[in-house]
Amino acid sequence: MHQNPCMTTTATPLDVTTRASLREHNSFGLPAVARTLVRLKTEADVRRVVDHPEYGVAPKFVLGGGSNVVLTRDLDSVVLKVEILGRRLVREDADAWIVEAGAGEPWHNFVAWTLDQGWPGLENLALIPGSVGAAPVQNIGAYGVELKDRFEALDAVDLVTGRSVTLDAAACHFGYRDSVFKHTGFGGLAGKSVITRVRFRLPKPWQPVRGYLDIERKMAETGNSAPDARTVFDWICAIRRAKLPDPAVIGNAGSFFKNPVVTEEQCRDIIGRDPEIVHYPLPDGTVKLAAGWLIDACGWKGKTVGRAGVYDKQALVLVNRGGASGAEVVTLARAIQESVYGRFGIRLEPEPIIV
Ligand code: EPU
Repeated sequence: MHQNPCMTTTATPLDVTTRASLREHNSFGLPAVARTLVRLKTEADVRRVVDHPEYGVAPKFVLGGGSNVVLTRDLDSVVLKVEILGRRLVREDADAWIVEAGAGEPWHNFVAWTLDQGWPGLENLALIPGSVGAAPVQNIGAYGVELKDRFEALDAVDLVTGRSVTLDAAACHFGYRDSVFKHTGFGGLAGKSVITRVRFRLPKPWQPVRGYLDIERKMAETGNSAPDARTVFDWICAIRRAKLPDPAVIGNAGSFFKNPVVTEEQCRDIIGRDPEIVHYPLPDGTVKLAAGWLIDACGWKGKTVGRAGVYDKQALVLVNRGGASGAEVVTLARAIQESVYGRFGIRLEPEPIIV
């Protein structure tokens, strides 16, 4: 590995590493080598990549925080690691705080900082691994709040034209763990733009988002039925630490599969055979099933295949037991998909991007 500071039209060199290990740059800790890794510190760096005679025309892969990706091979594309920092209050209205962060800011630190500043609203999303820029890509969500509920707009740079664009929520096409940035087809922006900054709208007056079983349980345990934002933050951190592995200790990418949505009829059919199934009726008449429960019911919790495994406290989380390859993780994921399909007739869809 060697540093190759590459001079372009301006005096600031691009931070380029050739033959760069990506192990430290993906939360699963999977081995993969990028032929070219460019670390982007500013928006201008993105434009330097676009204007670069070689990188400008090469296929690109935007790595963000590396917390939602399974790397199964070395990458020949130019890997762009977004490290744009900075956070600020954009404005305060009568009904909201508008707060902005650079895409490279670690998500959890940003959430904690907003609370320290007295701007609550992101506390339910505490401790989600990854960066601010990766958060809109998969519309992160937890404990009754999704990023789209607190989203104002984001800035991105088009990787073909080098132009800066601002996208509002409608342009991002947010769905359940989904956005325009996960799609490569027509209109999709995966690999076509780099998110540089994200702005959040934190509504006033602040109200806790409750209703989620784990939070209700904390209220009952503590006897505190009117928690402030800091208390909710602390509860969420405790809940997550109790059942989700810390990627700094055990490689993982959070929930490995999306919770599948089925028709009411399909759900009734499954309940007929498995009355215990955890399910949540949705407003449109469909029903969301707990994928963790389905996987658990198939006996996968705590199992190991090769050096990949199923976390012993949450069957929806696949983990690197030490030295696993991306292929091992994918093999395990396929085996889980097959057994869930065999028993329930439901196809589980991976949440991370498999490369
Ligand atoms: N369950 C089991 N066995 C398991 C795991 C879960 O029976 O091994 C049951 C639980 O008892 C519970 C239900 O399944 O009744 C749901 O489990 P949990 O509350 O842990 O939430 P989840 O549906 O598994 C989702 C998100 C998480 C988010 C939590 C909390 C998805 C794919 N996952 O998990 O998001 O933190 O809700 O809101 O939507 C992520 O996306 O990476 C992530 C961690």
